[in-house]
Amino acid sequence: MSDDLIHTVEQEAVVPVHEPERQYYFMEKAKKVLQKMSEAAGRPLTFCVTTFGCQMNARDSEKLTGILERVGYVEEADEEKADFVIYNTCTVRENANQRVYGRLGQLGRIKKKNPHMLIALCGCMMQEPEVVEKLKKSYRFVDLIFGTHNIYKFAELLAARLESGSQVIDIWKDTDAIVEDLPTERKYPFKSGVNIMFGCNNFCSYCIVPYVRGRERSREPEAIIREIEKLASDGVVEVMLLGQNVNSYGKTLEHPISFAELLRRIEKVSGIERIRFMTSHPKDLSDELIEVMAQSGKICRHLHLPLQSGSTRILEKMNRRYTKESYLALVGRIRKAIPDISLTTDIIVGFPGETEEDFLETMDVVRKVGYDSAFTFIYSKRTGTPAAVMPDQVPEDVVKDRFNRLLKEVQDISAGRCALHEGTVQTVLAESVNDHDSSLLTGRLGNNLLVHFPGDPSMIGGFYKVHLRECRGFYYLGEIVSDE
Ligand code: SAH
Ligand code: SF4
Ligand code: F3S
Repeated sequence: MSDDLIHTVEQEAVVPVHEPERQYYFMEKAKKVLQKMSEAAGRPLTFCVTTFGCQMNARDSEKLTGILERVGYVEEADEEKADFVIYNTCTVRENANQRVYGRLGQLGRIKKKNPHMLIALCGCMMQEPEVVEKLKKSYRFVDLIFGTHNIYKFAELLAARLESGSQVIDIWKDTDAIVEDLPTERKYPFKSGVNIMFGCNNFCSYCIVPYVRGRERSREPEAIIREIEKLASDGVVEVMLLGQNVNSYGKTLEHPISFAELLRRIEKVSGIERIRFMTSHPKDLSDELIEVMAQSGKICRHLHLPLQSGSTRILEKMNRRYTKESYLALVGRIRKAIPDISLTTDIIVGFPGETEEDFLETMDVVRKVGYDSAFTFIYSKRTGTPAAVMPDQVPEDVVKDRFNRLLKEVQDISAGRCALHEGTVQTVLAESVNDHDSSLLTGRLGNNLLVHFPGDPSMIGGFYKVHLRECRGFYYLGEIVSDE
């Protein structure tokens, strides 16, 4: 970049110290540099954000997108054509990391042909010092690297990269800051994720999330409500409240409030028709929450309640702080209060020391609960977590065998659960055009199941009464009966 460019942007006022004003200042700064770059290129410059991992990362990517659009970049769906590629990474399991390295190698080759291309990496993987070391050594073409704690500084870091022309790396070990009111660009106009808390204090012994996302911090309820009211006035009808353990929301606030109380307040926001949340840790799920859900007309009849293992012995080693019996008792209380609730879960197979008996306990819980669906994972060793150095890591062939047996059981049970609703009429939110057949729309039931039905794109974002004509294992084919 030429010197006179830098000169123009630096003639501005003093840099604000407070957030979010500081970031808006850097957005303006980056915008001016980008304008010159676009003029030089003779076209608008484009970006592509690729998200790995969970809903929290997806929400962060919307924040990155909001900033990029404000700076003047135009979205490009094809990563290989974009002038600025951002990978928002996940490190919860080893294969998530491998995917990033694989795709990064490919990006490096594309960058060689396009000298104007910029590459940024952020997200959970960047919080691991070994990863950053490896990137510094073997992936020197990466232009910008930042972590989860300073994502709100994206505009500032981007401006620094655009001005300096050299690699920028900024990773923080932790933070207690929550910066509100930065721009975001939602992927869907009618539904949105809303962070209610960040980080995690549970330290399940297999899990890296507390190390890469830092300590648990709740947002002030007023800030959450303000955001949801704004979303509602913008046409959003469904919110998904996000946190690693939403059931412990609010406990560390100056004026503590419970998650159930937060839900009561959100329920009052007019325009919001559906409220979802994830993830619920079984150890913190209160009777107050069950009661609020049972009485609510807006909270979806769906709970994602990760089991991880059905063996009390393994649960203890996992530091989950519940037992097989207490988990089943909790499910009993939930089902009694909300008989039509849909329950989904996460299960890990092959945790160190897991015996066949332990595994059979997991199968037993799976059968007793009858999950509507379950995400099953093979245990992945994460360096730095207590489980990584536990004895008796289970051999790969034994784990694979257990995984396949569990998967079959889970799929059979979900197909049975799905069939229960066949022939009924349900309220469906039309979410997208069907991927395979453009004469169909894909919509979601309150219990999170999908249904495909004839319709046109103008109907997306609306609620419809749909007859679930045929169950196809884990989704339905249906027809609209009448408008809501
Ligand atoms: N906070 C959520 C889960 C976040 S991670 C909770 O407590 O339920 C999402 C899922 O990834 C976890 O529920 C767990 O099943 C899985 N997972 C986490 N660490 C893992 C590891 N080391 N190996 C395999 N699966 C893991
Ligand atoms: Fe990981 Fe456990 Fe925290 Fe979930 S609750 S993010 S599994 S440490
Ligand atoms: Fe992955 Fe980070 Fe989410 S490790 S699962 S993206 S919190």
